Amino acid sequence: MKDAFGAPQSLLVLGGTSEIGLATARRLIARRTRTVCLAGRPSPALERAAAELRELGADVRTVPFDALDSASHEEVLCKIFTEGDIDMVLLAFGVLGDQARDEEEPLSAVRVAQTNYTGAVSAGLVCAGALQAQGHGSLVVLSAAAGERARRADFIYGSSKAGLDVFAQGLGDALHGTGVHVMV
Ligand SMILES: NC(=O)c1ccc[n+]([C@@H]2O[C@H](COP(=O)([O-])OP(=O)(O)OC[C@H]3O[C@@H](n4cnc5c(N)ncnc54)[C@H](OP(=O)(O)O)[C@@H]3O)[C@@H](O)[C@H]2O)c1
Repeated sequence: MKDAFGAPQSLLVLGGTSEIGLATARRLIARRTRTVCLAGRPSPALERAAAELRELGADVRTVPFDALDSASHEEVLCKIFTEGDIDMVLLAFGVLGDQARDEEEPLSAVRVAQTNYTGAVSAGLVCAGALQAQGHGSLVVLSAAAGERARRADFIYGSSKAGLDVFAQGLGDALHGTGVHVMV
């Protein structure tokens, strides 16, 4: 449960090595967040991030999570919620891609789209359902200015973020009145 000041006591970061995700986690721990779950592709960087947050006094664990493996999201993410309420889910994973290469190699472009958009759709829906089942919580989605208007330099990445934006806004509308909030 959020405490009396509205600060989340438990945080789930999807994309557990994300710089923005970790900066947010550090801020929240300084304010009262006590438990943090870093979900991400297993790596020394993920374990280092967990160790750094533990030094700030939080109870931190890591969970293997791959945005590209949508079929696994229900099992992986629902299990996290069965182990305790999550007050805030921060959807922080994403890839910028390489616009020039992605234009040359369509499958590489698809990887950007699948990570940033379809991966977020499946993970977002699973987390929204779990938050709704517990009756409270927030889903915070990191989009990008690149999604607001197509730009020559990054329209593949931008289009994935545009899709993410509309999805997350609509999900927020769908959850209106449930006690679950979505912030883009
Ligand atoms: N930084 C900016 O200026 C900026 C501006 C606008 C929007 N954003 C958006 O904000 C979000 C966070 O940005 P950031 O700068 O913190 O990013 P970052 O430091 O580059 O971190 C990206 C995260 O995404 C994870 N990721 C990539 N592919 C994944 C996959 N298949 N499965 C699971 N995790 C995966 C990475 O995990 P690994 O460690 O496994 O690679 C990493 O944790 C991104 O969505 C980004 O598009 C950032």
